[in-house]
Amino acid sequence: MNTLNRILIVDDEQSMRELLSIMLRKEGYEVVTADNGAKALKAVQSDIFDLVITDLKMPQMDGMTLLKEVKESSPDTIVIIVTAFGTTEGAEKARLLGAYDYIGKPFNNDEIKLVIQNALEKGHLRKENILLKREIESRTGFENFIGKSEPMQRIFSLIRQVADTKSTVLITGESGTGKELVARALHAQGSRNARPFVTVNCGALPETLLESELFGYMKGSFTGAAANKQGLFETANGGTIFLDEISTMTPALQVKLLRVLQEREFKRVGGTADIKVDVRVIAATNRDLLADVNKGLFREDLFYRLNVMPIHLPPLRERKDDIPLLINYFLKKSSSGREPKKISSEAMNRLVSHRWPGNVRELENTVERLNILASGDTIMIEHIPDSITSIAPSPELIPFDIPESGIDLESLLQNAERTMLYKALDKANGVKTDAAKLLGLSFRSFRHRLQKYEQSS
Ligand SMILES: Nc1ncnc2c1ncn2[C@@H]1O[C@H](COP(=O)(O)OP(=O)(O)OP(=O)(O)O)[C@@H](O)[C@H]1O
Ligand SMILES: [Mg+2]
Repeated sequence: MNTLNRILIVDDEQSMRELLSIMLRKEGYEVVTADNGAKALKAVQSDIFDLVITDLKMPQMDGMTLLKEVKESSPDTIVIIVTAFGTTEGAEKARLLGAYDYIGKPFNNDEIKLVIQNALEKGHLRKENILLKREIESRTGFENFIGKSEPMQRIFSLIRQVADTKSTVLITGESGTGKELVARALHAQGSRNARPFVTVNCGALPETLLESELFGYMKGSFTGAAANKQGLFETANGGTIFLDEISTMTPALQVKLLRVLQEREFKRVGGTADIKVDVRVIAATNRDLLADVNKGLFREDLFYRLNVMPIHLPPLRERKDDIPLLINYFLKKSSSGREPKKISSEAMNRLVSHRWPGNVRELENTVERLNILASGDTIMIEHIPDSITSIAPSPELIPFDIPESGIDLESLLQNAERTMLYKALDKANGVKTDAAKLLGLSFRSFRHRLQKYEQSS
């Protein structure tokens, strides 16, 4: 499951080193040996090992000192001590210093294989556990991902199609349109969903910090690098890494990312070993990345590597059908278990016609606020802040001239229709037959038109 099972064997006795390396290579591990503590320590400081198995009694540096040093420079590395001179106190001390196990010689081959296997699994689990909590609360397939509009339905089916592939996905769309939800759904729907989903906001960190976060570093490679540290690409191994705000990545880092995408390997900062990872990369941006390419701000080759599977989220104003659905979803979400508040059709109508420059995020915040502002059980138009101005054209507001920028007749007429339907409903106190009469429509026709705008269908 993990491609990084590298083991370092330390023993001054050649026969022991040989016995262990043959046995462990057969098990599929990558094995390196050292015949004394100093060499072992040098190896640990310049290379990456998941596990060190060391003899206790060795001339110069003994196993206990090596254990201490290894834990200091590479805390994630598991250390197992083997000794022909086992004592209870020795075992106790080794554990205190962070040894995983303390095994007596001669040992049974199967036993030591099992100990190593368990230790490595436990190591991986621990790393994953750190991510797990965040994972669980945010694991969303489609249940939290709302949308019945045609563009969203198309996006959902696209997600289902590509989730289980390893293709790199580039998600574009204005801020607040749900790019992160798409990334999470891609992960949750794919076969990698039991493995980590790691989010990196590339815009939040300066270049050097981002580099060491992504690729990890070796002790001493820069001031403050007190110990070897695994990077997020390693943490995400087997799973998905989500690179948010990819457009902010500096040219130097773009080159490094390109290498990961092409070769599936990289080096830690200050490291020499090539680390292989199996990670699905998803990137997102709210910028027009191709325009950035044309301006020379973003590497063209990287753009095409990322853009294997593009998913574009349209702004909320272009999928107004989703607004009532989202409002009801957010009302339920912010009602904390109580009966969710209702919303008058006039208020609903106002919200539907708003342009929502901040997209779904802005809508969610607004609904949360309305939920607090409305003292009764229904949100009324009075509760809606002035900043959310209605652009819904009442008939007298329909422009008779077409401006230079043109108009969108379809949505203009839809808005007008929706406004009148809800106005009539309000006037008729919700009695549909009366509302239909007010508009000169048959009940069937009224109901049919209304259905297009209903919260849920
Ligand atoms: N279709 C949707 N259904 C339910 N919630 C949504 C939907 N789209 C967005 N949201 C919610 O809106 C908020 C913003 O979404 P998200 O963080 O995915 O946007 P984004 O496109 O990544 O924005 P930014 O570019 O600012 O990072 C989140 O709280 C998210 O849960
Ligand atoms: Mg985001």
